[in-house]
Amino acid sequence: NMRKIPIIMDCDPGHDDALAMLWALSEPEKLEIKAVTIVAGNQTLEKTTRNALRVLTFAGVHNIPVAMGADHPLMRPSIFEEGVTEMVHGQSGLDGPAMPEPGFAPEKMSALQLLIKTIEESEEKITLVPTGPLTNIAALFLVRPDLKEKIERISLMGGGAYTGNWTPAAEYNIYVDPEAASIVFNSGVPIVMAGLDVTHQAYITREENEILRQKGGRIAVFAAELIDFFSRYHYEVEKLPGCTIHDACAVAYLCHPEIFVEKQCHVDIELEGSLTAGTTVCDPGNYEGKEKNATVLSGVDREKFAELFIEAMCKLDK
Ligand code: BDR
Ligand code: CA
Repeated sequence: NMRKIPIIMDCDPGHDDALAMLWALSEPEKLEIKAVTIVAGNQTLEKTTRNALRVLTFAGVHNIPVAMGADHPLMRPSIFEEGVTEMVHGQSGLDGPAMPEPGFAPEKMSALQLLIKTIEESEEKITLVPTGPLTNIAALFLVRPDLKEKIERISLMGGGAYTGNWTPAAEYNIYVDPEAASIVFNSGVPIVMAGLDVTHQAYITREENEILRQKGGRIAVFAAELIDFFSRYHYEVEKLPGCTIHDACAVAYLCHPEIFVEKQCHVDIELEGSLTAGTTVCDPGNYEGKEKNATVLSGVDREKFAELFIEAMCKLDK
């Protein structure tokens, strides 16, 4: 199937969001990025927007529309405003490598308007790729439920069937805005969930990051420097065996589905649990007999993932 998949990336960059964006840019034969919409998540909306613009500018891309979306979750206070995410992504939300100032401005219209416009104007169904809290996508479904039928599917990074990373039971993106996640998972649009089950397997080792750096191109070095900063949290706090490039899984699945292990199941979001708010409750045993609304990714060929990631970063340097 040589058809390009038209996508909208909805993100909160964020190191792994930036790497996901670069990966998507490196696969023009498979993916066409129609728009980038921004949400507050890893940092405030101003910062995540600035980061997206700087990454695109660095990559020499000025022709993809970028628009600013939700600056806080649907119903809850923002946790990133307390500064608690700085240990992961730094003060800017994208600390580490030197980057140019944004070479272009975001659209005057909001992310919600850009989502609506892009989906309405597209002849083909659009695939959404959210890699932050799901606030913008939930807003879209609340305002324009009729547009769901023009969405092919949603390949998102979020959740985890058996683990959390922000609380014992909840992953960050879902934890930030569980009500939005609930709206998205219950939307009826097919979902691919790249949660922690798979993203904790999608890591880059120190040795692989040196291989990437030694490729020497400017994007390769930039990616390696993003990983230098991001990996500190993974090694020092999370004690993981490498730097997990969570958000890149949502993109990689669209280009290389064959390297992933997947299972269809029903997933819903816990909104109230005193210990479990924001948990993606997955039902692979189908105990509730509910409709299988999600393709849950549970594994990836890690070495292949790392190889394809390095290849993607180097392709952009050619
Ligand atoms: C998610 O949270 C953010 O820190 C990352 O960008 C990723 O989207 C991982 O839980
Ligand atoms: Ca993210």
